[in-house]
Amino acid sequence: MAYYYPEPSHTFSEYLLIPGYTSEECIPDRVSLKTPLVKYRKGMEEPAVSLNVPLTSAVMQSVSNDTLAIALAKEGGISFIFGSQTIESQAAMVARVKGYKAGFVTSASNLTPDATLADVLALKEKNGFSTVAITEDGTANGKLLGIVTSRDYRISRMDPSDKVADFMTPRAKLVTAPKDTTLKQANDIIWEHKLNSLPVVDEEDRLMYFVFRKDYSSHKDNPLELLDSKKRYLVGAGINTRDYATRIPALLEAGADVLVIDSSEGYTCWQEKTLKWVRDNYGDTVKIGAGNVVDREGFRFLAKAGADFVKVGIGGGSICITRETKGIGRGQATALIEVAAARDEYFKETGIYVPICSDGGIVHDYHMTLALAMGADFLMLGRYFARFDESPTNKVMINGAYMKEYWGEGSNRARNWQRYDLGGSAKLNFEEGVDSYVTYAGPLHDNVEASLYKVKSTMCNVGVTTIPDLQKNAKLTLVSSVSIVEGGAHDVTLRSTSNIK
Ligand code: IMP
Repeated sequence: MAYYYPEPSHTFSEYLLIPGYTSEECIPDRVSLKTPLVKYRKGMEEPAVSLNVPLTSAVMQSVSNDTLAIALAKEGGISFIFGSQTIESQAAMVARVKGYKAGFVTSASNLTPDATLADVLALKEKNGFSTVAITEDGTANGKLLGIVTSRDYRISRMDPSDKVADFMTPRAKLVTAPKDTTLKQANDIIWEHKLNSLPVVDEEDRLMYFVFRKDYSSHKDNPLELLDSKKRYLVGAGINTRDYATRIPALLEAGADVLVIDSSEGYTCWQEKTLKWVRDNYGDTVKIGAGNVVDREGFRFLAKAGADFVKVGIGGGSICITRETKGIGRGQATALIEVAAARDEYFKETGIYVPICSDGGIVHDYHMTLALAMGADFLMLGRYFARFDESPTNKVMINGAYMKEYWGEGSNRARNWQRYDLGGSAKLNFEEGVDSYVTYAGPLHDNVEASLYKVKSTMCNVGVTTIPDLQKNAKLTLVSSVSIVEGGAHDVTLRSTSNIK
């Protein structure tokens, strides 16, 4: 006879936290959200990689490209660049994150000296930047011949057909900086010469970057940014259980700091084989997470197979229809609670703490706090990040409101068959995800700051200032469906719904 669980599985919205004693020390500004990303001997050593905020972005085409990865690393979290693309383009995205120097911007507007004033104005209209690099071949890294800013022309006195060569500030009059200039040195030059922008050039006078005056305080704005020992942003990358022997070396060569096997279901021989290959070839030097699982057995299997962290969650993602198409999955809260207990049990047995990641299904900001309280070390979010400026997808106007596109890796649009691979012929036979829109929400920084402030405030209500203390001291209660109604605004007529998130 089949096994039946005695209790139904539950999700985040069915739980609430009970406040604990809040002391004077317990204020949001003193809360640390630092958390381990990879396994370590807790109590004996520090983890090789920790996050400064417990957020990672989903391994998805519509979420994690290099732009989002840079924005999230600035806040202290990490992105896993999606693997459902060619090895070359994924490695190039990783390399762009590692090559990114805060404050050093690749020129977005570029023309040749033969271009006209009309071209300058069209470019400004198109991308909004007023600094145009004039290079020999009109590319962002061509030989620098001059710069055009709005100080170089007067529309009322000039003809649209005037040549850039005749009104640009020529190379001879430009102050530039050499290739190895640090941000601090660049800012000193900017101040000394009262510049708005400083071109950085290589030995052959090819343009590498601009440093803009306004960017000078980048580090001060991002005190939690996640950097490696060479002060480059940390970045992760998704892999699959088919082409890992070629994909992993390319990703590592590009500079990936941590990998994750991206799969809808991780309790498989394929994940075990992939992890073994990594350990055989790289020992413990390569950090790799695995998943997803929803119970104790799944966790123990992956921990023993050598995973550096384990992702939890099947069927809870906002774009996910796995439960409907295949009838597999488990309420995210129940899955997390069981896997967290398995992680603690495994730690007691082995002395090794394998962090767990709650993946999918975070809808409200308070779900983040609940997931952490239930034992998650960090979270993975797709829908949440897809809404921001930095996500890779189009912003479109629908019924008068801005939306961003968001599609699942198991949808026909992504065609990421490797994620659902169970061996055999390699193709996506049926969809496990949808193609959708999410409400546009502006810049990542503002949203992450607001969400995490809520998390910190709730932690103060619980009476804790660290994630490990939250996991240890939180008191959680299941709520009845009637008390869920009681928890929302009720028995009043709302004047506005804008403050309900
Ligand atoms: P969200 O944060 O609720 O949007 O969930 C994101 C998570 O959903 C991802 O990290 C994946 O684990 C999962 N996911 C991504 N694409 C699909 C899909 O097409 N079907 C099912 N699950 C998906």
